[in-house]
Amino acid sequence: MKRQALLYEGKAKKVYETDQTDLVWITYKDEATAFNGEKYAQLQGKGELTNQLSSFFFHHLAEHGIPNHWVEMLSPTEQLVRRVTIIPLEVVVRNRVAGSLARRLGISEGTELPHPVVEFYYKSDELGDPLLTEDHIAVMSLATPQQVVEMREMALEVNRALRRLFQANQLQLVDMKLEFGVKEGRLLLADEISPDTCRLWDMNTGKKLDKDRFRQDLGDVLEAYREVFKRVGGES
Ligand code: TMP
Ligand code: ASP
Repeated sequence: MKRQALLYEGKAKKVYETDQTDLVWITYKDEATAFNGEKYAQLQGKGELTNQLSSFFFHHLAEHGIPNHWVEMLSPTEQLVRRVTIIPLEVVVRNRVAGSLARRLGISEGTELPHPVVEFYYKSDELGDPLLTEDHIAVMSLATPQQVVEMREMALEVNRALRRLFQANQLQLVDMKLEFGVKEGRLLLADEISPDTCRLWDMNTGKKLDKDRFRQDLGDVLEAYREVFKRVGGES
């Protein structure tokens, strides 16, 4: 497998072509950003942690029957994934109120939701990733109604599988952001799953073990990611 031309550079990752047209090579960067890139830091060792954590979660989800893009880890900071066409939506699943939902509904952080809530946001830095209704998705042709139904079902399945994994390790999955891609007409879970894209709280102390440590200047960002990795059975 050879790494070839750079296809895309995001805030946390770079995506390269490979000598196989249906596979892409991802490198995870040592960079953290928040609030649409307004807040930025270089965190040495972050790429290794997010690559390993994301690989771990995608492998776990594949074993639980959730089709996804992950193929294998290539090095501590690199992974090989199937090439998909990303649907430009962020699919958020929430089990407890936090972040933008707390602000939007005026409900205090930590309130348990009676059932998981699924939301769709438009991936657009220009517009600041606005919340969308299913009608917005349809009129903008961002996904078909059938894909919306399937993404919702898969997102809830991912939520069930990860909640079980975290619960068994004294971690609470507050919410998470997922992305989906299409390959040969089939939906695959894609992008990244790590404490960069989830909210995870220690079940006993409520300590935040995710990117909110960076967003809210709580310190020890990578120590928290390492703790998550250790608890779910990684090595770090
Ligand atoms: P929010 O409460 O800020 O809307 O975030 C919901 C979840 O989505 C939370 O787990 C953090 C994650 N998220 C991302 O991964 N990327 C983003 O750009 C945003 C805004 C949230
Ligand atoms: N990932 C987004 C950014 O880099 C926002 C966030 O996670 O808070 O701006």
